[in-house]
Amino acid sequence: MSAPVATVIQLFDLASSTYTYIVVDPHSHEAVIIDPVEEQIERDLKVIQEHALQLKWSLETHAHADHITSAGRLAEHLGARTAAPEGCHIGTAAVQLVDGQSIEVGALRLTALHTPGHTAGSMCFYLQGDPTKADAAGHLFSGDTLLINGCGRTDFQSGSAQDMFHSLTQTLFKLPDETRVWPGHDYRGQTHSTIGHERQHNTRVAGQTQAQFAKTMTNLNLPKPRRIDQAVPANLTSGLRHDAGGQDLLTVQAAADYAGDVSPELAWSWVQSGQALLVDVRSDAERAWVGFVPEAKPLAWKQWPAMEVNPDFDTGLQALALEGKKLLLLCRSGVRSIAAAKRATELGLEAYNILEGFEGDPNAQAHRGLVGGWRKRGLPWRQN
Ligand SMILES: [Fe+2]
Repeated sequence: MSAPVATVIQLFDLASSTYTYIVVDPHSHEAVIIDPVEEQIERDLKVIQEHALQLKWSLETHAHADHITSAGRLAEHLGARTAAPEGCHIGTAAVQLVDGQSIEVGALRLTALHTPGHTAGSMCFYLQGDPTKADAAGHLFSGDTLLINGCGRTDFQSGSAQDMFHSLTQTLFKLPDETRVWPGHDYRGQTHSTIGHERQHNTRVAGQTQAQFAKTMTNLNLPKPRRIDQAVPANLTSGLRHDAGGQDLLTVQAAADYAGDVSPELAWSWVQSGQALLVDVRSDAERAWVGFVPEAKPLAWKQWPAMEVNPDFDTGLQALALEGKKLLLLCRSGVRSIAAAKRATELGLEAYNILEGFEGDPNAQAHRGLVGGWRKRGLPWRQN
């Protein structure tokens, strides 16, 4: 049996030049939306209603810096399930996609391709075509990895020009030439392309060595996206900024004796955009037992077993501050990090306390890790 021809509905948000896609299985009327934009939710709901679609999934190609997703609200309104790349740490997404994983929509199958470069977690989605029809080679929803005669920037949010070059040349350009490319953005009114065309004519990468490509990417000198500080933390919760925690997720709360309190989401977005350094002030033993954030610099405020203040804390922190970034202090539940932030302020440094800490507050049974905290909020961490 041949695969059905999918209907691809391409929608555009003028403010952010973002393409949103609604992909429909015409037989079952089941649909998936890719990279929906918050301000366009009324438009998208209208399209879904007019075509009598059943929205099954809302997918993200990555945690966007230039707009806020409506995925969380689409899930609330329509019962769609949310899915996002595992490496993007969107903790609210119901399904954390890994490379090669498929999402089924009626008889259609979209396959997640991990394509790091724009961000470390970024993915593209490949949709199979009907071998007997014009779209036989399938469709690629390329997010901010492959753009028409361009590619996504690689200079923030854990981006990497080397990874981008590899994703473009070794993953995407291995797809059949006729594969239709549907980009996440376009700034010149172009709507779609093909893999064959981009392999031959994409001036950023065609005929370029990895070193030449990396040099081009380093010298782009693009301005910081206008909405990054607001969009990234909001997108780490599928755009649900108004649920528990509300605006507190996105704003610095003033503190008397140090620079302020920030949510784990805001802290992570600052780390990703390169404006802050994460400092883990827990003891070495806690990091070993409970887990840690790979990006964090370890600098204990107090050490087991006596839990005396670390005599090397001041010099250690001053050394870290030489990078010229804001300091974000993380402890178990946000107590020691306040003490450490106050000390940092006395030393003349700009230091913030991360609310809830790594493990959050204890619940009624005194178990930690279930009420808030870095881990519970789905931000990156690991155990040795
Ligand atoms: Fe992006």
